[in-house]
Amino acid sequence: MATTQPTWSPASWRERPALHQPDWPDPVAAEAARERLTAMPPLVFAGEARRLRESLAQVAAGRAFLLQAGDCAESFNDFSAVSIREKLKVILQMAAVLTYGSMLPVVKLGRIAGQFVKPRSSPTELVDGIELPSFRGHMVHGDQPNAAARVFDPARMVQGYHQSASTLNLLRAFTKGGFADLTKVHLWNQEFVASSPEGRRYEAIALEIERALRFMAACGIDLEAERNLHEVDVWTSHEGLLLDYEQGLTRRDSLTGDWYDCSAHMLWIGERTRAADGAHVAFFAGVHNPIGVKLGPAASAADVTALCEALNPGRIPGRLTLITRMGAGRVEETLPPLLRAARQGEHPVVWVCDPMHANMFKTESGYKTRRFEDILSEIQGFFAACLSEGAWPGGVHLEFTGEHVTECLGGSEEVLEDHLDRNYATLCDPRLNARQSLDLAFRVAELMRAAEERGAPHLP
Ligand code: PEP
Ligand code: CO
Repeated sequence: MATTQPTWSPASWRERPALHQPDWPDPVAAEAARERLTAMPPLVFAGEARRLRESLAQVAAGRAFLLQAGDCAESFNDFSAVSIREKLKVILQMAAVLTYGSMLPVVKLGRIAGQFVKPRSSPTELVDGIELPSFRGHMVHGDQPNAAARVFDPARMVQGYHQSASTLNLLRAFTKGGFADLTKVHLWNQEFVASSPEGRRYEAIALEIERALRFMAACGIDLEAERNLHEVDVWTSHEGLLLDYEQGLTRRDSLTGDWYDCSAHMLWIGERTRAADGAHVAFFAGVHNPIGVKLGPAASAADVTALCEALNPGRIPGRLTLITRMGAGRVEETLPPLLRAARQGEHPVVWVCDPMHANMFKTESGYKTRRFEDILSEIQGFFAACLSEGAWPGGVHLEFTGEHVTECLGGSEEVLEDHLDRNYATLCDPRLNARQSLDLAFRVAELMRAAEERGAPHLP
């Protein structure tokens, strides 16, 4: 797929306006960190990014579904084997529910192992009455509410690289070393989830899956030999925001000669940095990973055409994912013109719904939160808009955690406004907890099944 312009290089984005980049106070330290990153081994391999692109091509064609999920911002402090394992359990559970409910393959993609940098609407924030630089993620500075912690420190990019490497190492061990084996489907149900209505509903599916496996074994199928039953692929992704970091991890693939950003399998460009003539689009146009772009309610049909032409001129299925975040009340009106623009340009797109980022509000007591009902309603509107335009509703993009947090309102357990302070632990945006995530997976599986029954669009 040699689409890279001959003038492109990992540094050529520097000629364009680059928004949301930290202004490192110490240029010598910044250069030293960039050099360290350039010398590090890649975190992921080009061949893996190509396999993910092939799986996403199946989604683009309506033959698979994408589950992209994880933290809003990963933390340097809350970093342990347990927290990674609990997140993985929820992803595996949600994928089992979605696969069983829809009978389609589910591509599993974490917002993990690199999701450390945040764009912020305002450069400063008020914390306890003091004005501080807004928190922009642990790869840039500390989150403590004092001026010293908020100084930008480029050495944190190297720390972020090492944490990503350890996270990936554990993910690979869990997903290839037996934990993700389909015969362990019961073990992914956490104790505090198992006794809930959604936990019991999950147990019922887990039993059905076990029965199906026993049935196949009884028919003489050698389950031991079937690799797909014992291992899964969980790919990594993050917002490709901090271009010093992304440039530092970009390598030329020795097999194809193409450039890949080896910091993650998939990278996405955020709503605030997606200008077609900006530095982020210029950078990601030249690497061959699957790329995503967030689209908010102000995105126009012309934006979609420009982004498709800039990022996927070769119209390669699976290369480009457009992640829409419109808001529950607006998606059915704002999405159809965008779907039509891609169709008219004959651009293969993986359409994904992020029902989180346009449904946020602040409570009177000052917590940023989201309602489960709004999240579900945006996904319903997304399915309706896609199906009415003959597009495949290809996936969901969620912020969640495996812990029992109280950050989003609602769900079957009904987190109420005055419960938010019980366990509000996020570094940035509010996340669904494990029960709310599982509950949502059941609802999305129902939507997928209804879409199938209506004759959802599948390309040949
Ligand atoms: C995010 O995904 O955390 C984010 C900042 O999203 P967006 O670019 O859609 O606002
Ligand atoms: Co977020």
